[in-house]
Amino acid sequence: MAWKLIPEATQKTALLRAIGRWIYSHFTSRTMRFQSHYTQFMRNPSLVGTVAHLAAERATSRPLRIASMGCSTGAELYSVIAMIRSAAPDARIQAFGIDLASDVVDAAKNGVYWPGKSSAANSVFESGRPEVLVHEAPQLLNILNPQPDGSLHVRSHLKKDVEWVVSDASDRNLIKRIGRQDVVLANNVLGPMDDDLASRCLQNLMALVRPGGYLVVDGVDQELKFRVLAPSGFTPILSNAREIWNGDPSKRGWPWVRWGHEPFSTEEGWCIRKVTIFRNDDDVMAGRHPVLVAEDTVGERYLV
Ligand SMILES: C[S@@+](CC[C@H](N)C(=O)[O-])C[C@H]1O[C@@H](n2cnc3c(N)ncnc32)[C@H](O)[C@@H]1O
Repeated sequence: MAWKLIPEATQKTALLRAIGRWIYSHFTSRTMRFQSHYTQFMRNPSLVGTVAHLAAERATSRPLRIASMGCSTGAELYSVIAMIRSAAPDARIQAFGIDLASDVVDAAKNGVYWPGKSSAANSVFESGRPEVLVHEAPQLLNILNPQPDGSLHVRSHLKKDVEWVVSDASDRNLIKRIGRQDVVLANNVLGPMDDDLASRCLQNLMALVRPGGYLVVDGVDQELKFRVLAPSGFTPILSNAREIWNGDPSKRGWPWVRWGHEPFSTEEGWCIRKVTIFRNDDDVMAGRHPVLVAEDTVGERYLV
């Protein structure tokens, strides 16, 4: 496609960005939305690493509570737990993997993967790419234990702390079932929903986050994310924002791909639109104190 032939630096110019946004809003964003079970181990290493680091800092005497909404076959949640375990080996973890499709929840609970083959084949939505490709397996030995028959088993110390739940992201009773969490992962689940449902689910997931805990939300329309999160008491975490935004290869292809990420920029509002991790600072915001967030990866400081 001609767009791909344009050098990356040129794609980031104001004119090309404006043309890209026009293409995206007039054409791409109107293409059909469809859910899939696509997931993979260490899908976005910068995101997994940053979340694990933030979570490990909250590992105190009480168990660290993590929920993955739209967990699919579990690769994302197992990756995050493995990274937390390496940052904080003694942390006690209580994790929940949640999805509305029971057979991917069963596959996640089983924790057995075959290189080059998705465990979500024959499930409700399209399976997407395999959780592990053959050449990726050697880099995942901290998570997956290779078996003589060629399968890969999630290591038992990562499996033991996870409860697998079949539920809907919009279910208001979920909080009664799993309680509030230190980290809520909501990646690549809201984007294909219609905007009303995605807003309701996002608000429901925000309510699951403990004060000082983190909401992690990628694969969602950035304007919808802005509308819901800007007036809230959630503070964007700017550490590694650029690396995280660029860190998932499946988000390439903008402006022609609906879930593609446009080039990272620091235009007004970027620190909500292009940030993936948010901290629940509701108590501070309720007092109407502006929160000075940390220096970001492009060397600026922001009041939100
Ligand atoms: C593309 S996968 C994302 C997997 C993982 N979070 C990741 O980022 O790699 C989306 C998952 O969300 C699930 N899902 C879709 N709508 C949902 C809903 N309303 N409630 C819970 N799960 C949902 C799908 O069944 C699917 O397994």
